[in-house]
Amino acid sequence: MTAPHGQSESIVILDFGSQYAQLIARRIRENGVYSVLARPDVTADEVRRLNPKGLVFTGGPASVYEEGAPRFRKELLELDVPVLGICYGMQVVCETLGAETKPAPAREYGRAALRVVQPDVLLKNIPDRTTVWMSHADQVQQMSDDFVVLATTGTCPFAAVRHRERPFYGVQFHPEVTHTPHGNEIFRNFLYDICGCEGLWRMGSFIEVVISEVRETVGDDERVICGLSGGVDSSVVAALLHKAIGERLACIYVDNGCMRLNETGLVRATFAEHFRIDLTVVSAGQTFLERLRGVTDPQEKRRIIGHTFIEVFRSAAKNVPNARYLAQGTLYPDVIESGHSLAGEAANIKLHHNVGGLPAELGFELIEPLRDLFKDEVRQVGELLGLPEAIVWRHPFPGPGLAVRCLGEVTAERLDVLRRADNILLEEITANHLYRKTAQTFAVLLPVRSVGVMGDGRTYENVVAIRSVDTSDFMTADWSRIPYDVLANISNRIINEVPGVNRVVYDISSKPPATVEWE
Ligand code: XMP
Repeated sequence: MTAPHGQSESIVILDFGSQYAQLIARRIRENGVYSVLARPDVTADEVRRLNPKGLVFTGGPASVYEEGAPRFRKELLELDVPVLGICYGMQVVCETLGAETKPAPAREYGRAALRVVQPDVLLKNIPDRTTVWMSHADQVQQMSDDFVVLATTGTCPFAAVRHRERPFYGVQFHPEVTHTPHGNEIFRNFLYDICGCEGLWRMGSFIEVVISEVRETVGDDERVICGLSGGVDSSVVAALLHKAIGERLACIYVDNGCMRLNETGLVRATFAEHFRIDLTVVSAGQTFLERLRGVTDPQEKRRIIGHTFIEVFRSAAKNVPNARYLAQGTLYPDVIESGHSLAGEAANIKLHHNVGGLPAELGFELIEPLRDLFKDEVRQVGELLGLPEAIVWRHPFPGPGLAVRCLGEVTAERLDVLRRADNILLEEITANHLYRKTAQTFAVLLPVRSVGVMGDGRTYENVVAIRSVDTSDFMTADWSRIPYDVLANISNRIINEVPGVNRVVYDISSKPPATVEWE
């Protein structure tokens, strides 16, 4: 058996609970090698099934000498594939082979000066002195004679090590973070020179493999339903499935009345007109707005929209004959978060979870063609499939849409004000080449009025807040440093062009403690 999606080479990463585990997986893939994350207690048989060229052990928050600290099965060292241990991952490998780890004399956190003391293929093309990122309280104190020291820092005598006879390597620092400037060379050396990888992970071949898998799964008289939201994930799923099964794909797009300006038009133009996909647009705005009348509590808004969406979607899906499958844009981080974690009770790799927005009771079998991909890989697939830039690079948009950006009661009139303000904001952000630089930018209509003056008269009107964040994972985020003159222009345009708004404010809160959305 080969690795998922026909990959003939892969790296299996044992996740000991590192905050950087997904980053390691992405670094490896960026270097052209497919990688999967697994729990640390994965068995040798499970790993063998993935046919890896190498193993990486991540860092983790535990101390190897603590009771209950995560361990790996020693049988993995007999698989005859190279191992790279990072931080805790290095300590746990070295300890298994006879070294002793203890608290370091000083907790080391931040940049450290690495000195290469023994040239080795792992450190090929790396200067004798370079900077690395450290984040540890423990370190190996007593190394077994089986290991050779390759590099040290002022406080860490075993900053990089290699087994004398076997292809086991360890680094105490973090090559995966950008603060280690030569970290990527270390990954490349490990992948290409030590594991013998050829760099075969390409989105083009991924597309071909997925298309043939989908063709094998879906029968000639069966159809697949795809809930299209206009976001990048469901759009890529739709384009991919359309390439695989053509008219056997039926897309359903629900307009809940809380979409952005021109959103429905873009979806129609892209999928119905350009790709000629069978697309049903359900205009259910009125139903949603009726149910939202008088509701101001954010969670209640979400609940109403969630239930109504399922109801509307279910009834539209009934009109698709022979529908057996539901396609969803589940991504690899969703899969990892739902099944793969140290605390998770179920077993690891390739757990099949329904992590998408629609419930299992809809009665369809799921097709999740993107479940092995990270977001940036999904975007590459979207580009290769010819999706327009406006969709491939779209900022995320919450399921409940503008309802959670229209603070207080959601009415057609208030949504209209918000939509126009949001559109001006996005026009200016795009015109100033900031759309791709920011992760998410949007307007929020506040439930307060403020006093202003326009011409000779006093006004008492709405306040619009602008939110723009920089982030790669949306778990933490910083507010974007949009230049003042761009902000000034946005504010002028919104106040002049959107009747009912006389004040614009800029949100300068980071996450945590704030969230990206206001509700
Ligand atoms: P927060 O506000 O939690 O947002 O910092 C993090 C990311 O999640 C998006 N978000 C949602 N997405 N349904 C969604 O599909 C929701 O109810 C929802 N709430 C927040 C948010 O836009 C941001 O990208």
